[in-house]
Amino acid sequence: MDNKELILRIKELSISYRSSGSSFWGSKEEIVAVNDVSLTVRRGKTFAIVGESGSGKTSIAMSILGFVKPVSGTVEFNGMNLFSLEADKRRKTMRLIQPVFQDANSALNPRMTVETSLADSIDTPDQLQKREQTNSLLRSVGLSSDHMGKYPHQLSGGQKQRLCIARALAPEPELLILDEPVSAQDLSIQAQILSLLLEIKKAKNITYLLISHDLNVVRILADRVAVMRSGILVEEASCEKFFSDPTHPYSQELLENSGIK
Ligand SMILES: Nc1ncnc2c1ncn2[C@@H]1O[C@H](COP(=O)(O)OP(=O)(O)OP(=O)(O)O)[C@@H](O)[C@H]1O
Ligand SMILES: [Mg+2]
Repeated sequence: MDNKELILRIKELSISYRSSGSSFWGSKEEIVAVNDVSLTVRRGKTFAIVGESGSGKTSIAMSILGFVKPVSGTVEFNGMNLFSLEADKRRKTMRLIQPVFQDANSALNPRMTVETSLADSIDTPDQLQKREQTNSLLRSVGLSSDHMGKYPHQLSGGQKQRLCIARALAPEPELLILDEPVSAQDLSIQAQILSLLLEIKKAKNITYLLISHDLNVVRILADRVAVMRSGILVEEASCEKFFSDPTHPYSQELLENSGIK
């Protein structure tokens, strides 16, 4: 695979946390959340990470975003090691990687209107251009200018998640990290947000790193799947292979538990 085709390469990533409680001997216990994980994501594709709760999925996302410092390993984005970029280059590069989290309520500032929340993420001093871009972002996620002056509490759950998606799109990212993007929504809203994500991907050719415990969501969005169990990547396969003929017994178990197999 040449470098143009490859957007993200995670190499031998390990992440540990110190537990807040102490063990019997008074020392803090170490939780190994991610253990020597390597994976590569192709540009324009959707790569899903699945696995049970606590398997290390969000920890991987947090280290890509720079919120968690790994014990070892590297994350390369467009061929650059994200952990060794100098500050200015890092700030510019990180604008190209945007997250969308499960909980829109905690992601949005309750004191910011839709307009200020979006305008804040658009990087231009030209106010007219800002307004035009805000309008076009709103339209691209199925909201309208009627929503501009509203505060998060005046929006429905689905509308709040649409706003989070619009805000993530504002810096024109190349990679969206979607961590359980529809888990907080009702089934009918889930379907709407999923089709919005498909639409956006088609229109903008963005790469998605999708984190989900819901294999039905993965089946709709993803091209490849990595299966995590207790911090270890146990299987990686194309969606086609994973859903028709999974190799690892744990993958088979996940598929059975989700009612797919
Ligand atoms: N900030 C933290 N401090 C201490 N331990 C943490 C922290 N964040 C995560 N962990 C622990 O690391 C492990 C992996 O957590 P992580 O959030 O990455 O899992 P996950 O696969 O995203 O789970 P879920 O599906 O429930 O979101 C878990 O044992 C979790 O308790
Ligand atoms: Mg998580």
